[in-house]
Amino acid sequence: MPSSWTLAAAAVTALAITATPALAADGKALFADKGCTACHGENARTPIQAGYPVLAGQNAAYVLQQLKDIKSGARANGQIPDTMKPVVADIAESDLGALADYLGTLGRFADVTAHGPADSPGRQLYLTKTCIACHGKEGNKPVMANYPYLAGQDKAYLLQQMKDIKAGLRKNGSVAAMQPVMHLVSEPEMEAIADYLSNVK
Ligand code: HEC
Ligand code: HEC
Repeated sequence: MPSSWTLAAAAVTALAITATPALAADGKALFADKGCTACHGENARTPIQAGYPVLAGQNAAYVLQQLKDIKSGARANGQIPDTMKPVVADIAESDLGALADYLGTLGRFADVTAHGPADSPGRQLYLTKTCIACHGKEGNKPVMANYPYLAGQDKAYLLQQMKDIKAGLRKNGSVAAMQPVMHLVSEPEMEAIADYLSNVK
């Protein structure tokens, strides 16, 4: 084997080893560099205004599906076209994955046994209108990796999503699983549920 080949191969190997860490996308850095912090907060936990979602601790598989659907236009309800769509337009899918993984690693609450007001009307509705079957106890234990956490979410955001899913304005991802139960809840009932879920701390 010619020694020049050996040297070249060794150089390529060394390059691959040193280059890998630099190429692996850092979700935390991306979250700041891509401007996500401006609307969702430094820590993804304190959105700057009502109607903007908390992202910290959300299921990574759910988040990645949403980011891909927002980028492709499959999810275009509410404020998505004016706020999110332009931001994700130029972000590569691998970076969307890194962002989703980062958000999934953040704890949603300081205390994993977080719970909400024991006997609010919204809690009774949450228990009786089948929501618990998919989103789990207190909205804090989704049954599938691509189902979202609801506990501690912004109230106005929760209400808007419920209305949009019921009306068929949001129909991306796995929404088809949930849409058929939404006839069970009126708008005042959705508001009561949103109030309850946003108060799970
Ligand atoms: C200009 C403000 C703004 C910026 C910047 C922004 N977002 Fe958003 N984001 C929103 C709003 C508002 C919504 C909810 C829109 C709606 O449904 O009405 C949202 C929704 C989302 C959702 C869906 C949440 C869920 O529970 O389904 C994800 C995920 C998300 N943003 C991630 C990101 C990431 C990652 C970035 C940076 C690449 C980012 N956002 C940048 C405003 C923003
Ligand atoms: C059969 C399973 C199922 C049931 C029952 C169900 N959901 Fe969902 N829900 C889902 C899935 C799946 C999604 C996410 C869909 C997607 O975008 O991929 C979702 C999304 C949501 C969202 C949007 C979350 C976000 O971050 O944007 C809210 C709010 C919500 N559900 C509330 C409820 C409420 C309240 C009930 C009861 C009235 C309910 N769901 C019943 C499966 C269900």
